[in-house]
Amino acid sequence: LARVAVIIVAAGSGTRLAAGAPKAFVPLGPRTILEHALEGVLAAAPSQVILVVPAGREAEVSAMAGDGPVQIVPGGDTRQHSVAAGLSLLADGIDAVLVHDAARALTPPAQFGAVATAVRPGVGVIPALPVVDTLKRVHGEDVVAPVDRAELAAAQTPQGFPRAELVAAYARAADEGVEYTDDAALFAAAGGVVRHVLGSEEAFKITTPHDLERARMILSSSAQ
Ligand code: CTP
Ligand code: MG
Repeated sequence: LARVAVIIVAAGSGTRLAAGAPKAFVPLGPRTILEHALEGVLAAAPSQVILVVPAGREAEVSAMAGDGPVQIVPGGDTRQHSVAAGLSLLADGIDAVLVHDAARALTPPAQFGAVATAVRPGVGVIPALPVVDTLKRVHGEDVVAPVDRAELAAAQTPQGFPRAELVAAYARAADEGVEYTDDAALFAAAGGVVRHVLGSEEAFKITTPHDLERARMILSSSAQ
């Protein structure tokens, strides 16, 4: 992926996973969530990879990452601050930036290319899946209304953006002091257009202990 940088955000604490370590360092078999995430990203062959890790864990991650095109920076107290830390390391010549959750450790490498090739000037791209559940609008215990799921999609990462416009959108969000739900919302708030491409089931985010079990099952069945 020429002139494309991938920022892997891995600086979260994993509160909901509650696995006794920051989520990136939780094992999925012999290797950690972060090692799996990095392997998928490197298979997509971007020009630059930036790993945003918990402060104090830089040396350990550097030893794990070895020699490749990988740079490491400590993250911040929110995901948005962690992405901003990653943006500060973008190399000259990068035109498009993909921001990816380390917690989506089993994302197929092809998903990076699918997003990157759809990025255009002024246009960001997210992978998304159709919603399968029947959804309801609720208020307390009351079910208030049905929701037409045909209008909805579940967003994943990597989310891809033209470099200069993403950097400007992040500067604007920092000035305003607003926290956005994801990079696409932040980019849209600065006037960008966002499109979606089809995501994949394997790109699910490891959030809860059940998700961790699912990831381990997928890996052990694919090892056979
Ligand atoms: N992330 C980050 N810096 C933060 C918070 C989150 O780099 N301050 C990263 C996480 O490492 C993760 C991704 O953003 O790869 C998605 O966040 P989430 O799944 O919420 O992870 P955590 O914040 O670690 O988990 P929790 O919210 O349960 O504490
Ligand atoms: Mg979180």
